[in-house]
Amino acid sequence: MTLGQRFARFATNAVVRRPALWRLFRAPMRRQFDRLAPSWDSMRRPDFLAPLEAVLDCLPAPPKRVLDIGTGTGAAARLVAACYPEADVIGVDVSERMLDEARRLSDSTRVTYRAADAQRLPFEDASFDLVTLNNMIPFFDELARVVAPGRHLVIAFTGGSGTPIYVPPERLRSALGARGFAEFAEVSAGRGTALLARKS
Ligand SMILES: C[S@@+](CC[C@H](N)C(=O)[O-])C[C@H]1O[C@@H](n2cnc3c(N)ncnc32)[C@H](O)[C@@H]1O
Repeated sequence: MTLGQRFARFATNAVVRRPALWRLFRAPMRRQFDRLAPSWDSMRRPDFLAPLEAVLDCLPAPPKRVLDIGTGTGAAARLVAACYPEADVIGVDVSERMLDEARRLSDSTRVTYRAADAQRLPFEDASFDLVTLNNMIPFFDELARVVAPGRHLVIAFTGGSGTPIYVPPERLRSALGARGFAEFAEVSAGRGTALLARKS
């Protein structure tokens, strides 16, 4: 792993254990992703969305209102919009440069982007019937707040346990289970993994 990737792993582990520590990591992390934004897509492997794509096949019903957190250049948001022609998708990120790229690459008026921090999302409770995270640090309390009852959350890591931003599935299950998520399903595809959870 590069120094930047080691920093992302360190920040992920720290913030998952103690979300309040995010205030220390927010500025350096945003700077890191602002810097990476112009070359981000050229660094992706062609199959990097395979876990997300595979887990979406397990959704029992098409979502209408979708939030992609830590959207980066918007690849996952665009994939979800393409899979669900009835869905409106919002991608949020703390990095303005990433959002600039996402808007530049946008191919649908159903996908919109805004600057927002996953630790404190600017949305009402139960606003979304699908929330996706692709290589993004989960803020469990906010995830539990914005996913509507009976609807779904997807957390994907494109390089499996080798992904710099990675949280093991057992940790995801216990944190989500404690917040009212259940009916977990796990898939592997490409080099990565994804977890689907339903809010009870
Ligand atoms: C590893 S990148 C993944 C980007 C995209 N999901 C992908 O798979 O290509 C992580 C993204 O999450 C964003 N991010 C990190 N922490 C965040 C937070 N607390 N709130 C919103 N975005 C965040 C970063 O700026 C970066 O764009």
